Amino acid sequence: MTIQWFPGHMAKARRQVTEKLKLVDIIFELVDARLPLSSRNPMIDEIVNQKPRLVILNKEDMADPVMTKEWIRYFKEQGIEAVSVNSQAGNGLDKMVKAAEGILKEKFDRMRARGIKPRAMRAMIVGIPNVGKSTLINRIAKKNIAKTGNMPGVTKAQQWIKTAQHLELLDTPGILWPKFEDPETGYKLALTGAIKDAILNLQDVAIYGLRYLEERYPARLEERYGFAVLPEDMAYVFHQIGERRGSLASGGEVDYDKVTDIMIRDVRSGQFGRLTFDIPPEKA
Ligand code: G4P
Repeated sequence: MTIQWFPGHMAKARRQVTEKLKLVDIIFELVDARLPLSSRNPMIDEIVNQKPRLVILNKEDMADPVMTKEWIRYFKEQGIEAVSVNSQAGNGLDKMVKAAEGILKEKFDRMRARGIKPRAMRAMIVGIPNVGKSTLINRIAKKNIAKTGNMPGVTKAQQWIKTAQHLELLDTPGILWPKFEDPETGYKLALTGAIKDAILNLQDVAIYGLRYLEERYPARLEERYGFAVLPEDMAYVFHQIGERRGSLASGGEVDYDKVTDIMIRDVRSGQFGRLTFDIPPEKA
């Protein structure tokens, strides 16, 4: 998917999310568990405003489990509830619903006290492209095929996915834009496949990834590429990786693009194990 976020598109995306905010009790802010900060929209607090929110760290199966726990703790310290899930496998969805119930308990207790008939919680998923919004919606929809009709009072038809667990989910997610200003954020987004490859120089992305692995996961770097510490000479590093992975040209020359591709693919396909690229601020 090509993502080109121009100011007009950002304003439109923001308007679309803002319009739907009033339809829901809670926002499910989906982020990539490997990048809980870099895969957040920079203006999310402002956009969500006072609406109750649950941060969902998706793709937990690909993230470092120790860091995922740290991140959940970090969000809690910021006063934001967070849970981790694997939307592809459907793990953690009960936890997600329970967390939402906890967040909305007071609101629903108040409604009950005022004699308002109990109803399901209404939620909407928001997040930047590729964090797994559709996968999560499909996963919930598959489990719970029953769809409610359109909501009265809503001008544009909205489909709600009704779940067995007192939850109604808007069937279209709110798409927000990622943050590109900081090159490191861009590298992390590219490395995990969250942004389109052509946006950044891929060799820079691969080198960033190698340096990050050297800093945080040296044993895994060594196991796969034979270096725990990277030599200064990156050309040599690429040559060694190329040789190890059998991708040198017939004359023994390095095909830098090929090695770049191998490195990035290795990260994205979990060849280095479960990795997290953002460190909670107090830990960094
Ligand atoms: P979006 O709506 O937010 O844009 O994201 P989408 O659901 O399209 O998911 C983006 C990619 O992330 C998809 O992979 C999807 O399968 C994968 N994904 C979503 N949730 C999880 C998860 O919990 N764990 C893992 N490991 N992957 C997840 P893709 O390569 O684009 O497509 P495909 O491999 O499914 O064909």
